[in-house]
Amino acid sequence: MSQVHHITHPLVQHKLTLMRMKSASTNSFRRLLNELAALMAYEVTRDMPVADVEIETPLETMLSPMIDGKKLTFVSILRAGNGMMDGLLSVVPNARVGHVGLYRDPQTLQAVEYYFKMPTGMNERDVIVVDPMLATGNSAAAAVTKIKSTGPRSIKFLCLLAAPEGIRTLQAAHPDVPIYTAAIDRGLNDHGYIVPGLGDAGDRIFGTQ
Ligand code: URA
Repeated sequence: MSQVHHITHPLVQHKLTLMRMKSASTNSFRRLLNELAALMAYEVTRDMPVADVEIETPLETMLSPMIDGKKLTFVSILRAGNGMMDGLLSVVPNARVGHVGLYRDPQTLQAVEYYFKMPTGMNERDVIVVDPMLATGNSAAAAVTKIKSTGPRSIKFLCLLAAPEGIRTLQAAHPDVPIYTAAIDRGLNDHGYIVPGLGDAGDRIFGTQ
């Protein structure tokens, strides 16, 4: 089974609590989500390969580590994944960005794809798939399956909240994909929402409630 990395840093937990509050405005929800994404970026990129390169300081030549290989790729699962993108790019500004459009069929809760656009050279890239909510796990598993068809070097999954059901579904479909999350909530309600959760992330980011 893939690893689940629960990011328990106090700043992450504090900001997540503020986001969960139903009184949080669209503005503060969006700002907090990007701040959290930036903090979580440190954890999810912790094991990125580095290689020494020769540089010149004002005083002498030295070998110093830089991130190795082609540019990291963040893949946003539309639309809520976009709510984390500015925060991630503030920490990794050279990253490439792909998009997967999936909607949940309200009856079956299965993922249906409507958009897919990735950077070139995926076979040399490390990918971090981003969606704030890992709920049923169907969208996440479908997105990862599609991204795998482009042959990336590695894939990780980054979310803010995960339901145990979503973790199980993603792990069963993709045992090689580690999951990074700030919280593992109790479960899903009858509508497929994470409880206690934070509501509909897309609506709260974009003010479409
Ligand atoms: N998507 C959301 O935005 N919220 C949930 O609780 C589950 C899926």
